[in-house]
Amino acid sequence: MAITDHATALVQAGVPVIRLAAGEPDFDTPAAIAEAGISAIRQGYTRYTPNAGTLELRKAICHKLREENGLSYTPDQILVSNGAKQSCMQAVLAVCSPGDEVLVPAPYWVSYPEMARLADATPVILPTDISDNFLLRPESLAAKLNEKSRVLILCSPSNPTGSVYPKELLEEIADIVRKHPRLLVLCDEMYEHIIYPPAKHTSFASLPGMWERTFTVNGFSKAFAMTGWRLGYLACPNQFLAACAKIQSQITSGACSISQKAGLAALNLGFAGGEAVATMVKAFQERRDFLVKSFRELPGVKISEPQGAFYLFVDFSSYYGSEVEGFGIVKDSESLCRFLLDKAQVALVPGDAFGDDKCVRISYAASLSTLQAAVEKIKEAMVLLESPVSV
Ligand SMILES: Cc1ncc(COP(=O)(O)O)c(C=O)c1O
Repeated sequence: MAITDHATALVQAGVPVIRLAAGEPDFDTPAAIAEAGISAIRQGYTRYTPNAGTLELRKAICHKLREENGLSYTPDQILVSNGAKQSCMQAVLAVCSPGDEVLVPAPYWVSYPEMARLADATPVILPTDISDNFLLRPESLAAKLNEKSRVLILCSPSNPTGSVYPKELLEEIADIVRKHPRLLVLCDEMYEHIIYPPAKHTSFASLPGMWERTFTVNGFSKAFAMTGWRLGYLACPNQFLAACAKIQSQITSGACSISQKAGLAALNLGFAGGEAVATMVKAFQERRDFLVKSFRELPGVKISEPQGAFYLFVDFSSYYGSEVEGFGIVKDSESLCRFLLDKAQVALVPGDAFGDDKCVRISYAASLSTLQAAVEKIKEAMVLLESPVSV
């Protein structure tokens, strides 16, 4: 937040800051989806919908989950919410009691530990390493499990690292989960469609014995460039769904009627969002390739090539400790981001916010030419820092 505030102040003062901190696509919502929303308004489709979402949308979600994910759900096992953030929060609230532990691999999406705290549960952070592509080692999970362990949160493709869990690794994780009857898994599949070959998405609930204990969360914000429409959903067994629906019915009720019509149009675009989504994913992949190549040229920088989402999580820690005249010491991810904002006029997010202070998150939800300008400026600024001693 401090970096964002600082960036905003600079923009207001007329400084041309390049913002690569956003967690949303830079594309417009595809026309067919937007038209469905407009026509919903024109047709007066502007009233409350059922709390769980319209039946036509929940049926379409079941169809999507069956065709694309190999998952079998009925409409009464789907809860449509005002964004996937609400879906995640409600799942955690529904099943956690005070003292329960929520296991969160780091780097994590910023909201997960806070969701655990909001539910009076305790977040237990499971660090991962860039040399493992930020993927959770099954033994690290096994070492932290106990009778208080209630929810394991997996996010694949990941925000902030872009890592994608291979099926074999998920199977190893499932073998451990199976030994703990009380343990549930919240699988955040928000970036499912934004994935780069040869990586493949596997839904955790599709693994043997995992359907019964998995909350599958997905939504429309990222793949369909619909962040402002606020539409996400959760699929899970009936008893958990009933608890989540009860929470939703008291805090927000059903999601926006217009957005649900638009969501239906999104699912009708075809397998994995059809051409419209494929075009955006192709652009993201080009940008990923450009950024990975560019940052690999910087000495002392460590990168795990993202396999999905639209973020690059770069380890700049070998530069920490450098002193810059007129700025001070770059000692952590926060000061590095302040330094890059001051000297390169590029706004990034400190890794500290995601539970890894060695890194900085760069969002490539920006045009290739914007990214080229940003890289040039970052490289110029990095020269001011002392060259890393060892790589
Ligand atoms: C990993 C992850 N899950 C969920 C969400 C929430 O998405 P929504 O816009 O549907 O609430 C985000 C948004 O940043 C995200 O990055």
